Amino acid sequence: MSVDRRTSYTPERPLRVVVVGAGPAGLYTAEALTRQDAIPVAVDIVDRLPTPFGLVRHGIAPDHLKMRALRETMHRTLDDPAVRFIGNVEIGVDVSLAELRSCADAVVYTYGASGDRQLGIPGEQLPGSLAATELVAWYCGHPDADRATVEQALSHARSVVVVGVGNVALDVARVLARAPGELEATEMPEHVLQALSAAPVEQVTVLGRRGPAQATFTTQELRELGGMAGATVLVDPADLPVEGSGGAVADRLVARNLAVLAGWVDHVPAAGAVRLMLQFHRRPVRLVGRDRVEAIEVERTVVDADGRAVGTGELSVLPADLVVRSVGYQGHPLPGLEVDPRSGTVAHASGRVLRQGAVSRGEYVAGWIKRGPTGVVGTNKHDARETVTALLEDAAGGVLGTQPAVMDLAAMLVSHGADPVLLVNWRAIDAAEVALGAARGRARTTLHDRAALLAAARSGEGVPSADRDRSGDGARAADRAEQGSADRSAGTATQTPATQTPAAVTTASVAKPASSPSSSP
Ligand SMILES: Cc1cc2nc3c(=O)[nH]c(=O)nc-3n(C[C@H](O)[C@H](O)[C@H](O)COP(=O)(O)OP(=O)(O)OC[C@H]3O[C@@H](n4cnc5c(N)ncnc54)[C@H](O)[C@@H]3O)c2cc1C
Ligand SMILES: NC(=O)c1ccc[n+]([C@@H]2O[C@H](COP(=O)([O-])OP(=O)(O)OC[C@H]3O[C@@H](n4cnc5c(N)ncnc54)[C@H](OP(=O)(O)O)[C@@H]3O)[C@@H](O)[C@H]2O)c1
Repeated sequence: MSVDRRTSYTPERPLRVVVVGAGPAGLYTAEALTRQDAIPVAVDIVDRLPTPFGLVRHGIAPDHLKMRALRETMHRTLDDPAVRFIGNVEIGVDVSLAELRSCADAVVYTYGASGDRQLGIPGEQLPGSLAATELVAWYCGHPDADRATVEQALSHARSVVVVGVGNVALDVARVLARAPGELEATEMPEHVLQALSAAPVEQVTVLGRRGPAQATFTTQELRELGGMAGATVLVDPADLPVEGSGGAVADRLVARNLAVLAGWVDHVPAAGAVRLMLQFHRRPVRLVGRDRVEAIEVERTVVDADGRAVGTGELSVLPADLVVRSVGYQGHPLPGLEVDPRSGTVAHASGRVLRQGAVSRGEYVAGWIKRGPTGVVGTNKHDARETVTALLEDAAGGVLGTQPAVMDLAAMLVSHGADPVLLVNWRAIDAAEVALGAARGRARTTLHDRAALLAAARSGEGVPSADRDRSGDGARAADRAEQGSADRSAGTATQTPATQTPAAVTTASVAKPASSPSSSP
């Protein structure tokens, strides 16, 4: 990324950028900002959770250990001295956008798309009908997950229908169909492992409203369904296109998917195995049940010339004690920031936020809230680069403000009664999760409860380094914490002296007024 023109930003008065959301888009934005040397930058990356990584922590399936390990690479950005992680702060709730903007030359919105799309059919709100967002949040240990609702729904779940044939639907189907032992190596919280192990799941049906050639899942994820210890994948040959009948098969991805599906048509369910059925050309019409879901009524479809599912009027009813609606995520507005109600995205031009059709100076957007809820983690890297290129061009062109001093964000947050979690605190959470996992012979166990997360966060504060210098994982995390973090008083970015513990620095730099709430144990 090259920026030609010299700017008035200096190491003493760097370009100050606040990034809203510490998921992949936020972290890749911070990475792109700090991996150029034309303009000195200081980046605050704020998240409503006390933990970074967004959907990499609370979305990517727990049994996808390699993908989740992406966090190790992403952590390098958080370790950059020009980057400060500020967790446990919800923008639009703990602080307004106007206040946030007064602390920075530029703000980049990367807060994702956490809502769920609705089916808009009768019965959708019955108990036993869950959005994939709810189930995924629960099994990944998101602190806002509704445990009672999900666990109640799972306790009845003999016959499960997952609506949608995207990769999230396959994740959900796989997690529900896995034998309990297959999930032991994951980071799932203990109560999640127990509830999944106790759930009486016998059959999981994944339902596509169009044909297999239109499914959005990818071949690797599809193939993985066939490798589970306690499940048999079943496919109705009538759902597959007749060989040589369609131009769609010319698409390599589609051809690969069809070949995998065709390999399963002869399957016979093994005794005692979960039956995992993939069904296509069926769209949900209504969820049936008095007090809770008992079945789902579906209509047979054909795909028209425009690729749309068209109902044939042929109805059938599938028994279902649990219906999981996996029909996509949805972005939402922030107070003071509109999104298009249909696409759930912020209007932009190359990442520059548009308000009433005009570029809004100093506001940018990246990730799912910019593009909509599609794309893998890596997609956000290219996306963030486009946005950062626009931002740096604006900075170099003198478009952004250069007030001599702006208020320090963390200090401002504390003066507002917020309870920010900084890098040292996140490291303490990290160490606590590793220690919790080790106690049960696992690599890590996710802390899912907000109070427990905050208690763990505060355990990293004010502990003399000698006391932290013991063996074990807590010591490892504490040692890493001592490698340095950035302290930025108003308008300056200074490196933490090596002899000063980050806890002392962060406590000093965000010193709380006596009246402010604290979660310290
Ligand atoms: C269930 C699921 C599984 C997936 N699995 C894979 C996979 O295996 N491989 C793959 O490559 N991709 C996968 N993806 C896609 C990948 O996760 C996304 O492309 C990526 O996470 C989008 O990044 P983002 O930063 O835009 O959003 P997010 O990851 O959602 O990050 C947004 C962040 O913003 C924070 N935030 C929200 N509101 C506020 C606020 N008001 N103030 C402050 N912070 C806020 C959130 O807490 C979150 O940390 C999966 C997606 C889902 C939904
Ligand atoms: N392992 C991985 O790499 C991985 C894992 C999980 C997620 N992801 C990525 O994350 C993104 C989001 O995944 P996703 O699965 O939520 O989204 P998605 O790929 O858009 O899938 C949504 C599914 O819901 C269906 N649908 C939408 N509205 C419907 C309705 N009213 N009735 C019935 N079906 C309906 C869609 O069918 P139509 O096509 O007919 O609309 C589609 O099958 C994707 O880009 C995905 O690849 C990646």
